[in-house]
Amino acid sequence: MAVRLASVRTATRRQVAERSSTSPWWRSAVVYQVYLRSFADGNGDGVGDLAGLRSRLPYLSWLGVDAVWINPHYPSGGADGGYDIVDYRAVDPEYGDVADLEALVAEARALGLRVVLDVVPNHTSDRHPWFQAALADPDCPEASRYHFAPPSEEPPNNWQSLFGGPAWSRTPDGRWYLHLFAPEQPDLNWRDPAVAADFERTLRFWLDRGVSGFRVDVAYGLYKDAGLRDNPGAYSPTLFGHGPEQAMTWNQPEVHDVWRRWRSICDEYPDTMLVGEVCLADPREVALYSRPDEMHQSFSFRLLKSAWSTEAFADGVRSALDAFGEVGAPVSWVLGNHDKDRQVTRFGGGAVGTARARAAALLMLALPGSAYVYAGDELGLPQADVPDEAKRDPIFFRSGGTRSGRDGCRVPMPWNPSPGVGFSAGADAEPWLPIPAEWDRYAVSRQSRDGGSMLTLYRRALALREAHPALGSGQATVSTRGDVLTVRCTADDGSVVRCVVNMGSGTTLVRTRGTVLLASNTHVRRSPATVALPPHTAIWLAEG
Ligand code: GLC
Repeated sequence: MAVRLASVRTATRRQVAERSSTSPWWRSAVVYQVYLRSFADGNGDGVGDLAGLRSRLPYLSWLGVDAVWINPHYPSGGADGGYDIVDYRAVDPEYGDVADLEALVAEARALGLRVVLDVVPNHTSDRHPWFQAALADPDCPEASRYHFAPPSEEPPNNWQSLFGGPAWSRTPDGRWYLHLFAPEQPDLNWRDPAVAADFERTLRFWLDRGVSGFRVDVAYGLYKDAGLRDNPGAYSPTLFGHGPEQAMTWNQPEVHDVWRRWRSICDEYPDTMLVGEVCLADPREVALYSRPDEMHQSFSFRLLKSAWSTEAFADGVRSALDAFGEVGAPVSWVLGNHDKDRQVTRFGGGAVGTARARAAALLMLALPGSAYVYAGDELGLPQADVPDEAKRDPIFFRSGGTRSGRDGCRVPMPWNPSPGVGFSAGADAEPWLPIPAEWDRYAVSRQSRDGGSMLTLYRRALALREAHPALGSGQATVSTRGDVLTVRCTADDGSVVRCVVNMGSGTTLVRTRGTVLLASNTHVRRSPATVALPPHTAIWLAEG
């Protein structure tokens, strides 16, 4: 007999109010990441914008997420998808203006959604007025806000850019300047107090406009070794994150005081939060950024780089729960973002990759903490094949084409099966990255009518997470048996939901007398005391 899924109940207003009165919203929020250029194009120029996002807010409310984080919306030099900022207290005209941002916040709030902005404190654009002033006059006050070194044959140290090549480039007058990312992204010198003061103004500028907080870019950066000493070793992108081999560039102790100061500013604005991008190999170091007086959260990225195996996933989940548990912070789970290959492709592509991505979604949404869902992952988008001539990512160019870059996970969203897939208001608009011809099969309008689609799975899962306190806000224990990973989530009220994931290639029998809340595969079958779980499948079981 095929399993009848428990009907999706939405939590009553009382349940939600009771839960939110005891726990801040961000501890168990589902935050939807919008890559603004690729979400929805409201003015028909082929580039996503705030008007487009506003028009799609009802979709996000229907989906059931709690908040929206938008990638940088600021005027930018355009060298790194908006992460090279020219003016921190403005909106890029490509995306709209400050009034559009305010309208976005108000309209989102009316739908019960919060808006979180991206802020980039490690570096500016080389077109930022400070850097321009520093280029023109080496002795101006702005010059000490960056890392310049006098002309010499060799760069000041052995530091490498994360995008490839040396982290030092020359100015036209022969000085060196530091950029841990692209040359168009000079690193700020946080030992100059003017830098901190200006960022505090920026935070207040946006908090005064009602945003609910910030995702902090490269939060493990900012400060560098005071003597700019050589790093002991090289970084490899295959590692989980930076470690002792890069001890001089990242994770300097002084950076924690920045987060203490930012936390105190956020504390002046009710219900706001900071979530940091902390790409360090050791989860305990990552969690230190979420101590009670620092940021509210720091992303747990380990599952983004974990192979599809019970050992890797169990280790990723356990190590994060332990590390964040130590500091009393929730884990912020991430399975996809604008920097990594799409899950479906990472997990093997095709039907198997899709089945695994569905199972991974149920695992992530069961775990206690907040969950970050990257736009398009709820549609099961694969990594798009972007032709080299259309690529924009500096990683592709700076690696001489040896790294394919991140464009394939940044392709515009398909909304309906029409020419242009409903991304742009104008049907003839050329999207800023080409959309694969067959992507109308992933369109929102198509999937929303299909009971077996990835989108329906996400929507059901989010509604159940709202209704069952064991999902997203309980205590979790992790166990493995062969290819089966089990996370047992217990709520404060004693209710239990078990998430069982079959990561192997054969069917496995799961003993239970509980109720099947949801399965990632529509072909799950059950008898009174067992459930037969097909390969690459996860199930949520509510138990007494
Ligand atoms: C972060 C962003 C990435 C950007 C980099 C430099 O890692 O997520 O997209 O390229 O910082 O700002």
